[in-house]
Amino acid sequence: MMPIKTPYGSIRPWDAPDVPALVRHANNRNVSMRMRDAFPFPYTIADANAFLGIVARQSPVTFFAIATPDEAIGGIGITRNADVHRLTAEMGYWLAEPFWGRGIMSETARAFSDFAFEAFGLIRIYAEPYEGNIASCRVLEKAGFTLEGRMRGNVIKDGRILDQYLYAKIRE
Ligand SMILES: CC(C)(COP(=O)(O)OP(=O)(O)OC[C@H]1O[C@@H](n2cnc3c(N)ncnc32)[C@H](O)[C@@H]1OP(=O)(O)O)[C@@H](O)C(=O)NCCC(=O)NCCS
Repeated sequence: MMPIKTPYGSIRPWDAPDVPALVRHANNRNVSMRMRDAFPFPYTIADANAFLGIVARQSPVTFFAIATPDEAIGGIGITRNADVHRLTAEMGYWLAEPFWGRGIMSETARAFSDFAFEAFGLIRIYAEPYEGNIASCRVLEKAGFTLEGRMRGNVIKDGRILDQYLYAKIRE
């Protein structure tokens, strides 16, 4: 099932040679401002190596690269929950800014969520974009996710309190 072939390339496992492309594309305020603080700015070689180290220790692996035949251009993954939430997972993703606006993430989020339901035995996958992240909300709608709510004052990012949207997709 992995790699997943796509028109632009593939969704595939991360690999050590991805470090330079990962740093080049992830070291971008326009990306990091819409992500968790665990996705730092500036994004250094040490950050990339630490991330690939985490992925290398994952079992099963749940974080993957979005890649053209030439290079990694983004990431997508899920974080699984515990206890009574163990059939649910949060999905997160980012794309390198030069590749925005071509439909890449809409396509990737749909393919990856369908893969993840199957691969990890999930019932529910959700995502939580910050207020104002219209592109990500649109990605989720196009990938079959439904808006379930708006969590007011749920985030502090770069010193600002933000609302967060809750989008979810249930396994068919
Ligand atoms: C969000 C992100 C992944 C979108 O990826 P993308 O490949 O450019 O998205 P797509 O090309 O599939 O576009 C999805 C939709 O959003 C729309 N869109 C894109 N940018 C937009 C913007 N700035 N304002 C309004 N709509 C926008 C597109 O027009 C498209 O909708 P349409 O098909 O109805 O026209 C990318 O912008 C990104 O990596 N952002 C930073 C990190 C991030 O936000 N991650 C998600 C955290 S929840």
